[in-house]
Amino acid sequence: MVSRRPARGLAGVARVPGDKSISHRALMLGALALGESRITGLLEGEDVLRTAAAMRALGAAVTREGDGDWRVAGRGVGGIVEPEDVLDMGNSGTAARLLAGILASHPIFSVLTGDASLRRRPMRRVMTPLAASGATFSARAGGRMPLAIAGTGAALPITYRLPVASAQVKSAILLAGLNARGITRVEEPVATRDHSENMLRHFGASVSVSDDGEGRVIELAGLPELRCADIAVPGDPSSAAFPLVAALLVPDSAITLPGIGLNPLRTGLFATLAEMGAGIVIENRRISGGEPVGDLAVRHAALRGVDVPAARAPSMIDEYPILAVAAACARGTTRLRGLAELRVKESDRLAATAALLAGNGVRVAIEDDDLIIHGAGAPTPGGGMVATGMDHRIAMSALVLGLASVAPVAIDDARFIETSFPGFAHLMNGLGAAMAPA
Ligand code: S3P
Repeated sequence: MVSRRPARGLAGVARVPGDKSISHRALMLGALALGESRITGLLEGEDVLRTAAAMRALGAAVTREGDGDWRVAGRGVGGIVEPEDVLDMGNSGTAARLLAGILASHPIFSVLTGDASLRRRPMRRVMTPLAASGATFSARAGGRMPLAIAGTGAALPITYRLPVASAQVKSAILLAGLNARGITRVEEPVATRDHSENMLRHFGASVSVSDDGEGRVIELAGLPELRCADIAVPGDPSSAAFPLVAALLVPDSAITLPGIGLNPLRTGLFATLAEMGAGIVIENRRISGGEPVGDLAVRHAALRGVDVPAARAPSMIDEYPILAVAAACARGTTRLRGLAELRVKESDRLAATAALLAGNGVRVAIEDDDLIIHGAGAPTPGGGMVATGMDHRIAMSALVLGLASVAPVAIDDARFIETSFPGFAHLMNGLGAAMAPA
């Protein structure tokens, strides 16, 4: 696919798909609750469809009623059944790691696998804490999938201090703790997205959050009776980031993005763009399904380089590739600090982001775990062919860069965009972008 500079500014309303993190969790908790949960606005991207299929394989009745409108008839905590076959989670690390938590605390045998990207990603970060609850794991060298799990029907509640800031690891432990008698405790030195905590409460679990002076402490009381609940999934701020940055970069643009999730543990990008000179207006703030939501309005702005502290990384961990594109079009140097975790995303995203920019005439460097971008203003030279490495966010970031480049920007593979943002090019072209098959 190729993306080029549009003749006019972007305009219109961008309705981005539902939040990926919340969609996975809604299907999983719906399957562990008693009764029928209704989910609206579910992201129907491939990652989430893998979770839907897995919950079916574990015995839940998962049905699609209409666009984004799903029902899950759950089996209750402790009630899932052994899957007859391997569970293939495709490209989704969130699906694989959260599911490992559920599988570990039920007396069943299961095998998780995924595509070539997911099979390269580390699973030991969930195996280590979950083994302490009594489950047994076998994986390939380096803790890579396929991963066999012999779950336990008598899971112990564990206390675990997260060695890496990861909402997936935290969530896997909490999900395992549902079927363990007693208090499961997770300590996180740096706060990560708290959708699991919010949604567990929404389904009736008792979850407390406190601060012990060294970070956030989450405690879950085991063996709750989860009751079915309705979930309205907000628009994904990580998906909104792409049209939003596109509108900032293309002159004369003005777009709105209704119903975007504004959980404060997800909004690091919006804060950073504001520091760079973007005027993002948030209107109609409300709470929907236990999560803050609002409508965003954004117009073209001249951006300047910034220094982004490592402590902000968990609140914008998926947004670095598109932020790097914004920084390439800004004036001045941007330093993005503390990006070690990007090396274990769908691709080595630190290297892939640097290559994306370098291949399109932007001066960029990696120093230890920092990415340094020397912005010279928009348009950037462009003209590159970006290797997306099975990574949806690298693909979309490259296509947005093309909108602000003198020569078109091409990507080698647009298929993985379907994992999180079905209809991305169609939505962007509806705003006036020029993205087309090569
Ligand atoms: C997610 C957590 C993050 C994020 C991923 C979704 C989640 O991963 O990158 O896209 O839904 O919990 P880590 O837990 O590896 O940081």
